[in-house]
Parts: sequence; structure tokens; C-alpha cells
Amino acid sequence: MRAIKPRVFITRKPPIHVLEDLKEYFDVDTWDFEESNVPREHLLTDIEKYDGLLCLLTENVDEEVLSKGESLKVVSNLAVGFNNIDVALATQKGVMVTNTPGVLTETTADLTFALLMATSRRIIEASAILREGQWKTWSPMFLTGMDIHGSTLGIIGLGDIGAAVARRAKGFNLNLLYHNRSRKENLESELGIEYRDLPGLLKESDFVVILTPFTKETENLITINEFKLMKKTAILINTARGGIVNEEDLAKALSDGLIWGAGLDVFVEEPVPLNHPLLRLPNVVTLPHIGSASIQTRTKMWELAAKNLKEALLGNMPPNLVNKEILANK
Ligand code: GLV
Repeated sequence: MRAIKPRVFITRKPPIHVLEDLKEYFDVDTWDFEESNVPREHLLTDIEKYDGLLCLLTENVDEEVLSKGESLKVVSNLAVGFNNIDVALATQKGVMVTNTPGVLTETTADLTFALLMATSRRIIEASAILREGQWKTWSPMFLTGMDIHGSTLGIIGLGDIGAAVARRAKGFNLNLLYHNRSRKENLESELGIEYRDLPGLLKESDFVVILTPFTKETENLITINEFKLMKKTAILINTARGGIVNEEDLAKALSDGLIWGAGLDVFVEEPVPLNHPLLRLPNVVTLPHIGSASIQTRTKMWELAAKNLKEALLGNMPPNLVNKEILANK
């Protein structure tokens, strides 16, 4: 008689090699689409059947999901951020939560720097102007932006991605500042980066880059009061999570000239509604949450999320356990 395999649900279409590998160990169901979210009702109705869930940041794994998922042993998130999961409740229920750090660090730092450059040098606007037939002649102040080299970059959240952005910035001869919950003295000497309190960083920086995790403490970290401290020529870049910046205040700061521009890969509501005030401002570059979106990195994220799910269900230590406290109760 064949042993019954644990059941897992994957909320999107995985690469075939990932699926085939998981099928050797588990009975796998998928929401087999690339560009559509699993309907919440579907998840809520079916979750009780599963021992493991491999989900994306588009799924809200909250009290309702965790309560219905009575057999769940692991929630493996295909993302480094895990603010879409109620980790405290998962821990209380003995459910492991895992994420995919490391593999996306350099790719997300690349995109962060690309967004910084696109915003400061008005790349998207310039390309659109050319295609619309608005390029009349070469003129001295036509599409002038802000210099990158020699400027001061302030990083809020000096984790792995923040440090990778700082390394890129050194090559562009930027001065480096950071703000973080805890001082990172080893990185200060390695990168030549200086610590500032938040007001200090905001006052001194030409570029403020948000790379901190989204938590209760960082929600609305940047509001109109913080924009008032920034230089009128400053640029805000956010590749972390939308809710860290108050969007209404950001739109006001941009239209009132409190800051010069913003580059945003993330929004409070995603996809961002097309009538959103930030989409009507010329001095904002907007991207659809593509920080880690390279073929290589997204493939590695799938593989790592699958490994986390597999190890947890096979009774091993998953490589990226978020709620390590859970082990004390096992
Ligand atoms: C993407 O935003 C991630 O958290 O991996």
C-alpha cells in the first residue's frame, strides 16, 4: 500500500522542474496561472485540506486563512518580505513561516539603483517625449535632472539589500548615510557609510532610499513632517513596501515642491489604481513591484520557496525559517 503523501497548495503556476520535484514527495495542487491571484474564496474553502502552503505576497495569510488551515504546518512565502502573513498567529498555532532572502539581494539592489538613475535623469519622461514628437532641438536646460555622482545617498534600512545598494553607490562616488534600528558598525567601516538618526539623514540626503521591512513600527514612517525636513532637490526611492511612506503626503510633497522627485516600485494598494494621484505627477517614476524580477532570481526564489516548504514538511529545518521561536515549543 502506498503511503499517503502530505498535501500542498501552491498559489501560482510554478516552474515545471519545481513542480516535478515537489510531486515526488507531496500531493500537489496549484492555482495554475501566471498572472492571476487565487480567489480568496477558493483559498478559504480549500485550505483545510493542506499540510503546506506555498504562497506569494499577493495572498493575505491572516487569521481567517490560518484558522481554516487546521492541518497547516508551513507557510512558505515566495518573497523576502512577509508582511502579508500574520506571523505572530502562525507561531501561536505552531505553523512555520519561511521566506526567500539572499537570492534576491543583488537583483533588487540593481533595480533600486536603476530606479534612482531613471528618476534623477528623467529617463522615462525623456523617452516618452521623443516618441510623442516633442523633441524640437537640443536645448541647454531641456530635460535636465539631478546629478548622481558626488551626491549624498541616505539608506533607511541597512539590511542585505541596503548594503548591496551602498556598494553600487560607492562606484558612483556617492557619499553614504544610513538609518537603521541597530547600528551596523562592521558595515560602517567596510562601506564608509555613516549612521544618522532619521531627521539627520533626511536633512542631509540628496537621495533617500527606503529598504526597511514593513512592520507596525515602519508603517507611515515617512509623512509630511519628514518631507518637510528633506531638501527641495531631494529624491525619494521606495523599493520596500508602499505603506512605509504615506502616499497622500508624498503626493502633496511632490506637488508642493517639498521634494524634487520620487521613484516608486511599491504602493499601498497593488496594482495601484489608475486614478491614484501619484500617477498624475510628472516627477514620479512608477514601476509595478519588479524589484526582484529577473528570470534568474525569480527562478531561484521558486526553488528556495519550494525547498523551505519541502524541508519543513519532511521534518527538517527549513533554510529560511522566519519564526524561529516556534522551535522552542516543538
Ligand atoms: C518582494 O517585494 C519581496 O519581498 O521579495
